[in-house]
Amino acid sequence: MWHAATHIGTEHLTRLLSQLPALMWSTDTGLQVTSRYGGVLAVFGQEPGAVDGPSIGEFVDSADLETVVAAHRAALRGQATSYETRFRGRTFSSRVEPLVGSSGEIAGVVGFAFDITDWRRTETALRESEARLRTIIEIEPECVKLVDRQGRLVDMNPAGLAMVEADSIDMVRGLQIIDVIAPEHRAAFMDLHRRIFDGESGALEFEIIGLKGRRRWLSTHAVPLRDGSGAVQALLGITRDVTETRRAEEQLRASRTALRSLATRQQDIREDERTRIAREIHDSLGQALTALKLQLAAAQDAASRESPALGHRLAETALMVDDLVKIVRRIATELRPPILDQLGLPAALEWLAHDFTRRTGIRCEPTIMPTDDVISQELGTALFRIVQEGLTNISRHADASQVQIALGVKSHCVTLEISDDGRGITEAATTGPGSLGILGMRERAAALGGVLEVAPRGDGGTRVTAWFPPLPATPSGGGAQ
Ligand SMILES: Nc1ncnc2c1ncn2[C@@H]1O[C@H](COP(=O)(O)OP(=O)(O)OP(=O)(O)O)[C@@H](O)[C@H]1O
Ligand SMILES: [Mg+2]
Repeated sequence: MWHAATHIGTEHLTRLLSQLPALMWSTDTGLQVTSRYGGVLAVFGQEPGAVDGPSIGEFVDSADLETVVAAHRAALRGQATSYETRFRGRTFSSRVEPLVGSSGEIAGVVGFAFDITDWRRTETALRESEARLRTIIEIEPECVKLVDRQGRLVDMNPAGLAMVEADSIDMVRGLQIIDVIAPEHRAAFMDLHRRIFDGESGALEFEIIGLKGRRRWLSTHAVPLRDGSGAVQALLGITRDVTETRRAEEQLRASRTALRSLATRQQDIREDERTRIAREIHDSLGQALTALKLQLAAAQDAASRESPALGHRLAETALMVDDLVKIVRRIATELRPPILDQLGLPAALEWLAHDFTRRTGIRCEPTIMPTDDVISQELGTALFRIVQEGLTNISRHADASQVQIALGVKSHCVTLEISDDGRGITEAATTGPGSLGILGMRERAAALGGVLEVAPRGDGGTRVTAWFPPLPATPSGGGAQ
């Protein structure tokens, strides 16, 4: 019974050993192999069991021979030794110990090796991919940083170190990251930090003050970095230096504002000039012509009695003066319609529409709602000029047969709409660099806090819409002076 159990046990053990990716062996004191077992043998076409020789050197790549022999010699001296060795493309983790004989003397070496080829391969691949990733992060021009739950800097690449003006990572590792953030942005950064550790991701623009005192604007995108169990381990932030971009944006904004006020000012000057010249023409030239007409009438009277021929010439001259009066009046009106100053915007728009139809033959219907004095003189002029340019564009580009102008007030906001049934404006024409007329309309609206849009209508044609916010409560001429 006992014998049978031992027998089954040995067979079982041999089978187990032959399936393990391992190798066990023993040598004599001359380092000749005396027995060997384990699944590794099959890989190299060897049988398990007791052998007589060969030398251990036959089972190891020549490059590792010295290591293996030295380890076995150490074992013979009573010293257990571990080493790593390769044989025909496979890698083994090995350990040799002294083989103790029946009377306690060292009779040889017993060894155990485990095939770690696959494990080594994975480890190497992992190391390589880690090194690759490291290189990418090292040369990445944006700052890559890790911040722990307590807000301490764990790691940062060279680009980031340059941003915070640190010479090495040792200078800043463990630093409270909040310390380099400009005080006015700390609350926002702490909020972002909290959100990341709650598992969200986020973005933030903020200013930092580098270790050497330089301020920079940074734009960061942060995500939670999780460990194997899914818990948030750190904040991973990718950050770009946007100082230059912001400065350029600010300059652009400033120069746009300056340009806008320049345009507004020029328009104001132009409008004043037009008004002044129109008045001058009307008053001085008009009066002179009227006086001339009176003189002519008197002369005509006298001449008709004494020299009918001269009287006739003078009558012709009087007609020419009448024409001159009309021309002068037209020039003055075109410069600045007196109706705008005398009767206000609604009347001026009626006149403009009527005049437009008379000149172009295109029907033009103005719908003018009561505007309850919410239109200042300044706004009145702007609206008048916008409609004027809108109508000029229609006559020049639209090929329309009908135009509608609507002026109204909706919840204290002044609205204007000019729509035609022409060919419709293209997207490019509304934004093109050549569109000075439309640009001027937009600028006029913007100067008064309004918005103006020019777009094709869904059913063909073009629509210009403008919207102006309520005026601040100041008494304003209500259009007429
Ligand atoms: N009502 C419209 N219907 C169709 N196209 C239009 C209309 N209004 C404007 N456009 C198009 O938009 C372009 C830009 O108009 P904009 O008034 O800015 O410039 P312009 O009339 O060509 O020149 P100007 O600087 O003398 O006004 C026009 O050239 C034209 O092609
Ligand atoms: Mg135009």
